[in-house]
Amino acid sequence: MERHACDMSTVEREVDVDGKVVLITGGSRGIGFAAARELGLRGATVVLLGLDPERAHTAAMELEKDGIDAVGVHADVSDVDAVTRAALELGSLAAPDILVVSAGVMSGRMTKTMRTESDEWHRVMSINLDGAFHSINTFAKGMIERRDGRIITVSACLGRFSGPGTSGGLAPYRVSKAGVNALTRNLAAELQWGARGVLVDAMCPNHTQTDMGGPDAPRTAAVGADTIVWLATRPDRNLAGEVVPTGLLWEDRQVVPW
Ligand SMILES: NC(=O)c1ccc[n+]([C@@H]2O[C@H](COP(=O)([O-])OP(=O)(O)OC[C@H]3O[C@@H](n4cnc5c(N)ncnc54)[C@H](OP(=O)(O)O)[C@@H]3O)[C@@H](O)[C@H]2O)c1
Repeated sequence: MERHACDMSTVEREVDVDGKVVLITGGSRGIGFAAARELGLRGATVVLLGLDPERAHTAAMELEKDGIDAVGVHADVSDVDAVTRAALELGSLAAPDILVVSAGVMSGRMTKTMRTESDEWHRVMSINLDGAFHSINTFAKGMIERRDGRIITVSACLGRFSGPGTSGGLAPYRVSKAGVNALTRNLAAELQWGARGVLVDAMCPNHTQTDMGGPDAPRTAAVGADTIVWLATRPDRNLAGEVVPTGLLWEDRQVVPW
């Protein structure tokens, strides 16, 4: 696989997230929850948005046991009105410093293009792609106005146009993640590739042990979340004062082709 090394001058430095607000859609479980734990342990207030109200609150309580300032909130990200209600409920926490878009679902097993029912297509698209748009459109306004923030979308290798992304099967999932990649890059361009203080990047967690990835996946949730945490805490400028590369797809802290 072709890979490009990231800018080494930024690798060792880390932005202090103590006192910052991180909102993570899909934060109630899996990779989003693991990212929340890591960023919470570094002092961030973490907002865990999930679909199931009970699970979002239980997840927040679990992090609170570790001394993390955590808040659970629920919304179906495919429903823009529900996302707006969640934002109203959260008040100032709805304008985070860092937004991680991790909420997502896998498509059913028999979902090659010609075998996919319309309902299944729309279910996956509305959560994975519309949900990413609703989340960014609702929760990223504050950081864009402040000209300071990070938006990290959790994509997937299966959404890549290079490598495994176009090898067929699971069509709704693959196409939704290709859409997430396009959304990420388009927004990064609109925000002038980091020049307006907001870095926008997509990442692939790789096959990870979660409810989606299954128990036999090779990576723990913490390993799957590592690049999210790294993107959330990397400085926006290198030692020469230049904006770091953004609007890219990352895997294991390295740029991979879309
Ligand atoms: N695991 C892997 O191997 C893998 C590989 C590549 C990419 N990814 C991507 O990584 C992200 C996280 O995956 P995961 O493995 O952590 O999945 P997971 O364990 O199944 O967790 C999914 C999360 O998304 C939330 N969610 C699902 N539908 C939602 C909706 N309609 N509205 C709001 N929240 C919703 C769930 O909330 P509830 O708890 O309330 O249901 C949960 O917090 C996904 O975008 C996935 O596509 C995962």
